[in-house]
Amino acid sequence: MPKIHFPELGKTVEALEGESILKAALRAGIPVEHNCGGVCACSTCHVIVEEGGNTLSPMQEDEEDQLDEAEGLTLKSRLSCQALVHGDIVVRIPPCTKGGHEH
Ligand code: FES
Repeated sequence: MPKIHFPELGKTVEALEGESILKAALRAGIPVEHNCGGVCACSTCHVIVEEGGNTLSPMQEDEEDQLDEAEGLTLKSRLSCQALVHGDIVVRIPPCTKGGHEH
């Protein structure tokens, strides 16, 4: 199974093949904001994929549009609900994305 490393949190999460970063993180109890519920209608699930970004599902136009709104956007930014995991990646969660509450 592909692994998602969160070095800042000292956590490694196993993802199902083709699962979104968001789903895998939430299942492992890592709070990631997802105001729209993962349907690409907000930008609160923004994460930065430090390594392995090339193994993720390619970015679609609607993700690109939403991502433009994300705070602290970088070249390695993705919306975690849209980026599907197919290999090992290293992910950083920007301050705005750190969720403090369950949905
Ligand atoms: S949760 Fe809203 S775009 Fe990902």
